[in-house]
Amino acid sequence: MKKEFKVSQADILLQKDIADQLSGLICGTKKYYIQTYGCQMNSHDSEKIAGIFEQCGFVKASDKTSADLIVFNTCCVREHAELRVFGNVGALRTQKEENHELIIGVCGCMMQQEDVAKKLYKRYPFVDLIFGTHEMYKLPEMLSNVINGQRVINLAKNDDDIAEGIPVIRNGSFSTNVNIMYGCNNFCSYCIVPYVRGRERSRSHKDIIDEIRQLSALGYTEITLLGQNVNSYRSPDAGESIDFPGLLKLINEIDGIERIRFLTSHPKDLSHRLIEAMATLDKVCKHIHLPVQSGSTRILDEMNRKYTREGYLALVDELKKNVPGIEITTDIIVGFPGETDEDFNDTLTLVEAVGYSAAYTFKYSKRKGTKAAVMQNQVSEEVKKQRLRRLNDCVVMTLKMLNEKYIGTRGVVLVEGCDDTRSGKMAFGKLSNFKTVYFPGDESLIGQYLVVSIDEVMNNSLKGTLVSK
Ligand code: SAH
Ligand code: SF4
Ligand code: F3S
Repeated sequence: MKKEFKVSQADILLQKDIADQLSGLICGTKKYYIQTYGCQMNSHDSEKIAGIFEQCGFVKASDKTSADLIVFNTCCVREHAELRVFGNVGALRTQKEENHELIIGVCGCMMQQEDVAKKLYKRYPFVDLIFGTHEMYKLPEMLSNVINGQRVINLAKNDDDIAEGIPVIRNGSFSTNVNIMYGCNNFCSYCIVPYVRGRERSRSHKDIIDEIRQLSALGYTEITLLGQNVNSYRSPDAGESIDFPGLLKLINEIDGIERIRFLTSHPKDLSHRLIEAMATLDKVCKHIHLPVQSGSTRILDEMNRKYTREGYLALVDELKKNVPGIEITTDIIVGFPGETDEDFNDTLTLVEAVGYSAAYTFKYSKRKGTKAAVMQNQVSEEVKKQRLRRLNDCVVMTLKMLNEKYIGTRGVVLVEGCDDTRSGKMAFGKLSNFKTVYFPGDESLIGQYLVVSIDEVMNNSLKGTLVSK
């Protein structure tokens, strides 16, 4: 049992009162626009921010130029993400000069770095509102202060705030995200996330189940559970001991839910129980995102990842043996300080050995305040660039070979969208194992689960024909 962290209902109700007052004032006459950077966690936060804005009487703007309230929800995991935000906020200066009523806000992970938030506050006096990830639920109060003429900067770092009952405006109508935990305790030596998102804390399993039941009643059938390290989920509810596989089991029983996905799994905490849950629970998708970061045990140790190359490969074997048809995706960093040609070669051979269906690859980026930032022997930009290119080539080569096995097979696709192509309208969606499939079809199929036979392999995806509804 873990300690429960929850914002009191009285505090949530106070914010709701302020939101209701604002709503009476604004009454749909003003529009908001949110620009989101970073990971799914941030996208989902933006859905909550949208929920609060609508509670306060704002309506969604179709673009930035027609908005009365513009918010940038930022990411700081790599340096270029940060630079882009400074550029894009700066570009709003003219719009603000033309419309003094315009409210400009900057929030998210980057604003949890105090020095960066203060720099932004000083450099751009036309920014009205700055807040981090920890006290988002206080947005009605912050917004009300801004409307009353104040500049607001809220950089709270209290790790104990889990706010339940925030309204959410979800982007999709059949597939959506649900937070199961916040923060991270792992302190991988390259990573800023634990410093900005705070300590690990899990939501109550009862709150999670209630939320998913409501989503099912609204017609959502695919749920992605979000956390920086879902494998260390543990419900804080007194008297019960629900871990991540236990949570999956409970969600698997919810009527109307067809697919359960989750992000992200740290290899050091991937348990036999989770593999068993993936093998036996019918709604849990046959896909795991298992970031390896490097194929060299020496670099993994420097990264503070707490597993070895061999340990990772053994996990992959166990997953493949126990969960037939599973596909694995990953994250990889090249050019971590001290990475030699030999270390990098270990990453290439690991990619070939695992056979990932997708790999998100990054050049190491120095993050102030992390251990790796002050390590000697940083790798040059030129070498990082070269390694990234070689790694991406290696991923594509391996992928092409592996995709061949799909030709002549059938699978169920959840249709996500439709593209106009030279050969007509093509519907696309994903198999349970996260592989993308294209097939002739139109918008009417979106949201449906359909059987498709695979005829062709493309670079990152498969092509097929509809078999039955
Ligand atoms: N909690 C998740 C995701 C964290 S951020 C996890 O542990 O996997 C997503 C990815 O960004 C990481 O997996 C890592 O590959 C990459 N990343 C994090 N910090 C980085 C840095 N300083 N430079 C380059 N890539 C980084
Ligand atoms: Fe960053 Fe590591 Fe935590 Fe992932 S597990 S968020 S990479 S510190
Ligand atoms: Fe996500 Fe970027 Fe924050 S990756 S957790 S939005 S630093």
